[in-house]
Amino acid sequence: MSHKINDIIDQILNAPEHQLPSLKPLVDELVCQLCDITGIELHPAFFQDEHATETPCGKAVSMTTAAQCAEEFIRTQVFLRGVFQAIQDQLKTQDSIRILYAGTGPFGLLVIPLLHQFTPGKVQVCLLDIHQESLDALQKLIEILAVDGFIENQQCTDILQWPIEQQQPFDLIISETMKAMLDQEPQVSVFRHLIPLLKPEGELIPQKVQIKAWLTALPSYNAHDFYLGEIFILDCQQAYILNQQKTPFISGSLDIPESPEVYKSLKFTTDIQVYGDHWLTEYQCSLNLPRIITGANPKPGTQLKYQYEIKQYPKFIFDYQRGESFSIEHLPDYFELSDLGIPYLKRCWYKSQLIKQKQVTEDYLKEEYELDQLLFNTFLSDPKEGSSLLYMSCSMEYVEHYIVENFHAPDKDKKINDFKVSLKKILNRTS
Ligand SMILES: C[S@@+](CC[C@H](N)C(=O)[O-])C[C@H]1O[C@@H](n2cnc3c(N)ncnc32)[C@H](O)[C@@H]1O
Repeated sequence: MSHKINDIIDQILNAPEHQLPSLKPLVDELVCQLCDITGIELHPAFFQDEHATETPCGKAVSMTTAAQCAEEFIRTQVFLRGVFQAIQDQLKTQDSIRILYAGTGPFGLLVIPLLHQFTPGKVQVCLLDIHQESLDALQKLIEILAVDGFIENQQCTDILQWPIEQQQPFDLIISETMKAMLDQEPQVSVFRHLIPLLKPEGELIPQKVQIKAWLTALPSYNAHDFYLGEIFILDCQQAYILNQQKTPFISGSLDIPESPEVYKSLKFTTDIQVYGDHWLTEYQCSLNLPRIITGANPKPGTQLKYQYEIKQYPKFIFDYQRGESFSIEHLPDYFELSDLGIPYLKRCWYKSQLIKQKQVTEDYLKEEYELDQLLFNTFLSDPKEGSSLLYMSCSMEYVEHYIVENFHAPDKDKKINDFKVSLKKILNRTS
């Protein structure tokens, strides 16, 4: 009897691409079915992820966290459709294929639910995960979906310790052991270790993970990001290069050009080519969340240097010279006017930048707390919003823009004047 999961998968595979965003209920139902079969509680009341395993090359997330990945409905659909396409393409040129699925989680989501589309004579799968409880859960699913005949091998092991010399090559090697920017999890090391097992015509999935650097005007007001260049591509070729290196080394640099004043923050994006036309791009799932270094302010004419550290917590680290920096000695006077003619605003924003650059502690702000509150209450809707706006804004230009957009006082001049009077009163009282 065909299981409900098979019907859901068929709908996901047959949907036109533009419909994927509307298929969340379908993916929710899929996840529900997978949890019912495996007995996994997806969101336990007290969840601290204590069952993750730290390896020397990154974190193997716990069974529960791995299961939660399935809920990312665009990720799930794009991976399923990409893997399906890859299997079909491989079968165009050969009668049967072997797939290595490294890091299955409890649902074996990227492969197991697709198997009903094929026959065991065509597709054989080797499954690896470091967590036995994930493989136990997966076994239940394999039985219910009656796909045992497809499973060549199932092993609880650290992929990075798996002896590849004893294995036959594979047509597809699939692993999703990553976060945005290849942070924290061992994707790079997994592909580096497994690449000798890929047949010459075989494919890694994802085919490509592409990390790019941008200058951005954050918080942005309709300004397009300013492209700096590519930081790193993880693909088949790169995996071979890394495999040849005794100690893997990833580093490089990009030029920082002259750019408009507002481009003060650095932004890094992670795009994933799962396979062929099946891409995951900015904001489609957690793997594509951009990393932003607010107020990084790299100096034009210098270089942004980067290096990928492969340690317990793999990550990119950056080195760059900062442009204009703020100093306490140059703090604007209380009555120095902003372009809008508002006193104290410049000083207040400048203080936020000093805190952001860690030149002063937050206590420094408290000394002028009453003045700050008065400013925020007068020109911004509330103090909380005001202080976070000033902290986030990398230029006075943005703060002023925000106030113009949000501060619709017909009696603007009177309001500014009243503010000035109150400011004087507080300063007289406190000095
Ligand atoms: C992010 S989850 C993805 C689960 C599933 N493949 C999916 O895409 O929904 C990563 C899985 O890889 C496993 N994993 C990560 N590093 C591993 C390692 N070094 N050896 C074996 N398994 C690992 C984790 O235990 C986890 O089950």
